[in-house]
Amino acid sequence: MKFSVSAGGSLNGEINVAGDKSVSHRSVIFGSLAEGESLVEDLLEGDDVLATIAAFRNMGVSIDRQEPGRYSIQGVGLHGLLKPEVELDMGNSGTAMRLMCGVLSGQSFESRLVGDASLTSRPMGRVIDPLTQMGASFSARDNKPPLAINPAGDLQGIHYDMPIASAQVKSSILLAGLYASGETSVSEPAPTRDHTERMLKGFGYAVERRQSAISIHGGGVLKACELSVPADLSSATFFIVGALIASDSQIVLPRVGVNPSRNGVLPILEMMGADIEQTNPRVVGGEPVADLLVTSSRLQGCEISGDDVALAIDEIPAIAVAAAVADGVTRISGAEELRVKESDRIASVVNGLKAIGAKVHEHDDGMTIYGGQLTGGGVDSCHDHRIAMAFSMAALASKDTITILDSDNVATSFPDFARIAADAGLKISVF
Ligand code: S3P
Repeated sequence: MKFSVSAGGSLNGEINVAGDKSVSHRSVIFGSLAEGESLVEDLLEGDDVLATIAAFRNMGVSIDRQEPGRYSIQGVGLHGLLKPEVELDMGNSGTAMRLMCGVLSGQSFESRLVGDASLTSRPMGRVIDPLTQMGASFSARDNKPPLAINPAGDLQGIHYDMPIASAQVKSSILLAGLYASGETSVSEPAPTRDHTERMLKGFGYAVERRQSAISIHGGGVLKACELSVPADLSSATFFIVGALIASDSQIVLPRVGVNPSRNGVLPILEMMGADIEQTNPRVVGGEPVADLLVTSSRLQGCEISGDDVALAIDEIPAIAVAAAVADGVTRISGAEELRVKESDRIASVVNGLKAIGAKVHEHDDGMTIYGGQLTGGGVDSCHDHRIAMAFSMAALASKDTITILDSDNVATSFPDFARIAADAGLKISVF
């Protein structure tokens, strides 16, 4: 699939973006492992979350789609999963695979996790190492998928100091901790999204935070609950950047998740001069949300490093597009984690920006972007959903059409992106 986006135009009106991917995965996981029936509203029906649903169905969990986005999950309890008769295919989703590693480590049956070409090249040692310390047993070549998870003996709680700031690693260990004896605790070198901790509480499971360490005790029970998934800030970011860089634009994004452990994109864009107003703050499904009012703005380059990167890790491709049309220079550093996302996002952003006429230098841990006028051109999305969506928005501020190759994976996180973007004013055609 290819996107062709004609230059110019503006974005206007109310835009309802898809449900939060991180929260959706966790809703399915916790709902499946809880005792009783959980109801989930506004679940993201993207390929990544559908892979998580399929995995639990393959382990005997009944998950019923009552209407679009509304699911009832008949939880089987922590010890009620059945041995899957097939390989569990996590598709393109690193989150699904790493979180499932934690769940499957605690099972008394053998299982096998596989994924697509991108996922098969992503590092799994970051979860295999701590889970093995807890007593889990994996077989994998080079710590990459496919992964065989052998039936473990009893898991032991550990304390783990994470060498990298990763919510996937933290969550995987905490999920295994549900099955471990004693206390399992994880310290993070920088704050990462805390959806797992919030959802544990929502499902009635005690979780403690002491400074940078999060801990739980194994042997408890998850209790079914009703929850509603906020709109995904990561998906909203494409529209936020689009409205900022286009002329005469003003959009409202209702009910967007603004959890402070992952809303770093908002202060970064505000530091660049963005006019973003948060209204009607409230809590949805245990997560803070707000309506976002975004108005075209003149942007300035800025410095983005360290903890700022961790809090905005999935939004860097869109921020880079904003930086490419801002006045002055933007330096992004300390972002080496981007190299092991769905694509090498440092390389795919740098190459994409060059292809549409921006001046940019690649560094091992980031890039330097010199703002200016974009010309347009052909971008290789490297089969990465966020690259495809970020570069679609760049057409709002380019002289000529931008085409984006291999956009199919947009369906992993935001299946209706092209239709919703076209309704808002983006001149996008899908081939
Ligand atoms: C996620 C954590 C982040 C993020 C990913 C979703 C999660 O990954 O990039 O899209 O839901 O826990 P890392 O844990 O690798 O930083």
